[in-house]
Amino acid sequence: MRGMMLAGGAGTRLFPLSRVASKQLQAVYDKPMIYYPLATLMSAGITEIHLISSPADLPIFERVLGDGRQWGVELSYGVQPHPGGIAEAVLIGEEFVRDEPFALVLGDNIFHGPVGLDTEVANFDSGAVIWGYPVDDPQRYGVVEIDNSGSVLSIEEKPQKPLSELAVPGLYVYDGTAVSRAKQLAPSERGELEITDLNMSFLGDGELRAVKLGRDTTWLDSGTHESLLESSNFVASVEEDHGYKVGCLEEVAFKMGFVSGEEVARTIAAMPPSPYRTYCERAILG
Ligand code: DAU
Repeated sequence: MRGMMLAGGAGTRLFPLSRVASKQLQAVYDKPMIYYPLATLMSAGITEIHLISSPADLPIFERVLGDGRQWGVELSYGVQPHPGGIAEAVLIGEEFVRDEPFALVLGDNIFHGPVGLDTEVANFDSGAVIWGYPVDDPQRYGVVEIDNSGSVLSIEEKPQKPLSELAVPGLYVYDGTAVSRAKQLAPSERGELEITDLNMSFLGDGELRAVKLGRDTTWLDSGTHESLLESSNFVASVEEDHGYKVGCLEEVAFKMGFVSGEEVARTIAAMPPSPYRTYCERAILG
């Protein structure tokens, strides 16, 4: 299965930080934010990845991430001229998708702990898969209502009166019909092609499944100053408490077998002296 990452948007909520760099290039503790969703895709075995961003930011992503060879993955890039909505990514990535199943992750979403994307990727047949994560403030997100057997009853975007406490994180798996479905969508009141409308299209055909995330998983959406700080604090505390790094792409690439010991050693040797390099030497090269 291939993967898409959406890393555009206006990032207005992070002004004036967003004048320096796009939201998904901001630091989350010791790495650029985009490392974390990229690690999520790679940890599920996805190696062909298409990153979509704005014309101004795309060259910076290309400079930071390159063609992905250093991590044994193939990165390609697509332009979103204006922030026309998350579902617009599906249209922009049409050629990349080639009518086949794909995973989509938002560039400001951080997952830690078991997500089950690897299982979904391995067993995916058709339809769409979303996730549900219990939060205190569901009205800020897409909200999914699931019955006792795990079937999706409803999904709503930022409802004033949420029908459940389950927020829908920015991680989705779709079959190839997502493109033709996205073409049928009309822009919402905020002028965007809404990902929730795409999910409703699958739900209407009985083709939407939801995976409920448990307490051993952490999901963070880092789109505001507060949540950005919360994400940095979370990553710092995991790394300090447990002595391993979250979202270390060299480590993920090596563990997944995307690169050999020799290849990762070359990548590490090219890094400037830094705590990150020291960690890679210790954790990967031993
Ligand atoms: O984070 C999860 C939530 O993301 C979901 O629960 C919601 O259903 C979904 O609509 C979305 O809500 P947000 O209001 O948080 O979306 P936001 O506009 O902040 O965009 C999320 C990411 O997608 C962000 O990294 C920017 C990027 N983006 C967004 C739009 C609208 C783009 O790259 N292009 C766009 O046109």
